[in-house]
Amino acid sequence: MKSKHLLSIADLTSQEILGLIQSAVTLKKETAPPVLAGKSVALLFEKPSLRTRVTFDVAVHQLGGHPIYLGRDEVGLGVREPPADIARVLSRYVSALVVRTFAQSTLETLARYASVPVINALSNDEHPCQALADLLTIYEKKGDLKNVKIAYIGDGNNVAASLALAAASVGANFAIASPSGYHIPTPVMEKARARARDNGGDLTLSESPQEVVANADVIYTDVWVSMGQEEETERRRMAFESYRVDQGLLAHAKQGALFMHPLPAHPGEEISPGLLKHPQSVVFDQAENRLHIQKAILADILG
Ligand code: CP
Ligand code: NVA
Repeated sequence: MKSKHLLSIADLTSQEILGLIQSAVTLKKETAPPVLAGKSVALLFEKPSLRTRVTFDVAVHQLGGHPIYLGRDEVGLGVREPPADIARVLSRYVSALVVRTFAQSTLETLARYASVPVINALSNDEHPCQALADLLTIYEKKGDLKNVKIAYIGDGNNVAASLALAAASVGANFAIASPSGYHIPTPVMEKARARARDNGGDLTLSESPQEVVANADVIYTDVWVSMGQEEETERRRMAFESYRVDQGLLAHAKQGALFMHPLPAHPGEEISPGLLKHPQSVVFDQAENRLHIQKAILADILG
């Protein structure tokens, strides 16, 4: 990777994204080389996590390194100590910072003052490791990325932004249906559109789930209320009520279309009960692929 840090999908070129996917395919089949032997990696998490925390911990171990989990209350990012000092101090001890936080600007500050790489493990703006695992999953299931149509239903949030950028980078077609007021931020769409133009993909913004799922190879959704938005729960439930993904909506897509969700899911909200276990659902393969793609990312950045 040219960039030392992975704060956004925009930090990666199309070639780098495809390279990480290929490397993850190999790492999934073979024992990983101990490229992190003697190295420690800090996992600094300000929000809860199951998949990201465990897969980064296991990935560092499998590459021969030593992960150190630091929860919100221990570190007090910006409360007990300013991010710049935390970055300077941790850089003296560890070889990389894997960070889950709220503001993207916190990640940017950490990256500015750290002398080691900083990896975004989810922020309010992006979830790049998730998007890369998602492309890996689509590639494995469909054997292609370029001619695939991904239909995203729901909130134009961190997961949607990273997936739009990632899909556009590899020439996939990305269509998103969100209610008014919950679209992917315009600057992200503009960046994604530029990438789609360069790579032969297409990007569509809509308010109609039925419209975007037509001819889709992948139906993707995420929670209506992201971590940190708990106070908006009622307003969001109302806004997204007609954006629930259910079997009926899946039936409008291509035959054999994949159903994807980053998890955790809320059956009865963004998905109908039972959808995770639907024969077209690949959500658990998708969750597994977090491990393989993150090994590829760590090996690339630190190997
Ligand atoms: N998909 C995902 O990032 O899950 P966690 O929040 O459990 O890490
Ligand atoms: N959009 C969700 C993703 C969780 C993996 C959130 O930020 O809470």
